[in-house]
Amino acid sequence: MSESLSALLARHGRPAPRYTCYPSVAQWESTPTPQQWIADLDAALNAATGRGLSVYVHIPFCASLCTFCGCHLRVVRNHALARPYVDTLLAEHALYRHHLARSQLPIGELHLGGGTPTFLPPEELDRLLDGLLRHAHVRADANLAVESDPRSVTKAHLAVLRHHGFNRISYGVQDMDPRVQDIVNRPLSQQRLQQAVSEAREAGFACIAFDLIHGLPLQTPDSLQLTMDVVEHLRPERIAFYPYAHVPWIKPGQRRYTEADLPEGDDRRQLYLAGRARLTDAGYVDIGVDQYALPHDSLARALREEHLHRNLMGFTSVTTDALLGLGVSAIGDTVASLAQNDKNQPRYEARVAAGELPLQRGHVLDAADRAIRGHLQQLLNHCQTQWLNDENITPWRSAIEGRLMPLADDGLVVITREGVVVTPQGRPFLRNVCAAFDLRLHGNHCNKMQVDPV
Ligand SMILES: C[S@@+](CC[C@H](N)C(=O)[O-])C[C@H]1O[C@@H](n2cnc3c(N)ncnc32)[C@H](O)[C@@H]1O
Ligand code: SF4
Repeated sequence: MSESLSALLARHGRPAPRYTCYPSVAQWESTPTPQQWIADLDAALNAATGRGLSVYVHIPFCASLCTFCGCHLRVVRNHALARPYVDTLLAEHALYRHHLARSQLPIGELHLGGGTPTFLPPEELDRLLDGLLRHAHVRADANLAVESDPRSVTKAHLAVLRHHGFNRISYGVQDMDPRVQDIVNRPLSQQRLQQAVSEAREAGFACIAFDLIHGLPLQTPDSLQLTMDVVEHLRPERIAFYPYAHVPWIKPGQRRYTEADLPEGDDRRQLYLAGRARLTDAGYVDIGVDQYALPHDSLARALREEHLHRNLMGFTSVTTDALLGLGVSAIGDTVASLAQNDKNQPRYEARVAAGELPLQRGHVLDAADRAIRGHLQQLLNHCQTQWLNDENITPWRSAIEGRLMPLADDGLVVITREGVVVTPQGRPFLRNVCAAFDLRLHGNHCNKMQVDPV
């Protein structure tokens, strides 16, 4: 099985966007005006009656640089910088309440990401969450989740997060082999990770997730077994098993090792196969696009019960089409349009202080974009999609089918008169199936190949 999957990966497993939004960031071309952005957000919020907003809050700070990292972050030593940044986040939140003419924002999902949200001292984290949540109506089944670094999280952080109702914490683990950790400047002992997991469990987090990466410098299928042993021992509810994105022209930290240190071609595929085999043997369900979960976890349940949803934060079990991003570089999504905040922190802070929405760029979706987005959601959430005689797709349908033919020849998808079904063998190729639908990737709007930085 793994040998034939290896051959299929060699034929079809080309790098492709992660499809957390469509169009992918590199293909955006028409930024909404602030007025249009607010109007779209308001409409999405009204359409999401009862389901509320997804809110993403970006905290860019990290205590040190892991050289593989593709995230938008700033290495700082001075924790006092957290205070003015929290002030700005709260001011930005107030701006949105003002423009949306709502004293309380309904929340179905709240995600703190980074960087490292737990870089904020516990009292600043408390002030941030208190300020956001006192002006929010949080749904009873809301997902409140945080990304954290197991090397620096403390019991005090965990207590603050639980106090505000956070139920999921995701730890960056990446790789447990000391040689790999050394070359990417991210030392993490098994003992320290075990402590961070025990403390999160004791604090009452129902869901612990680990981020792992395959394709890091010096990784081998053998060295990866060490990481998988630790996963099996600690048994987090979820695993994100990301392919390493090498983008040194955007992230110069990745030049601290050389391309000769990186596993390539078949070596890289073997890493994915070795990791995936260990995860599925340990009982994890392959949710799709790098995500695995234990069968009792809400993501695995959502997959079984067919209410899985994908947004900018990845897969989620809570469906809402209105996503507000707060913080430097944060992205929001209203289905009608996408918008990203200023990536320059001083400018982001100055614009919010001046009472301005700090948008830098974005994209207004046209009819074809919206149709393709609908197909991608169906494929990612239900592994199938139907054409439904949609005139926005008809001109492109034969081109899409043509791109899918090689996958169909190998039994990874079935193309029918009505639509496209991804077979169980095709699940590891979901990104590639989506890429066949991606009109912008294939030149009807623009022609830029993209591998998303994270
Ligand atoms: C914001 S970070 C994680 C939180 C926290 N700062 C930590 O490091 O523990 C989100 C995740 O993105 C993933 N990531 C970062 N850079 C990546 C890259 N170049 N390729 C693939 N995944 C990457 C890592 O798995 C990382 O844990
Ligand atoms: S992996 Fe996490 S801690 Fe390391 S640089 Fe990236 S965001 Fe910061």
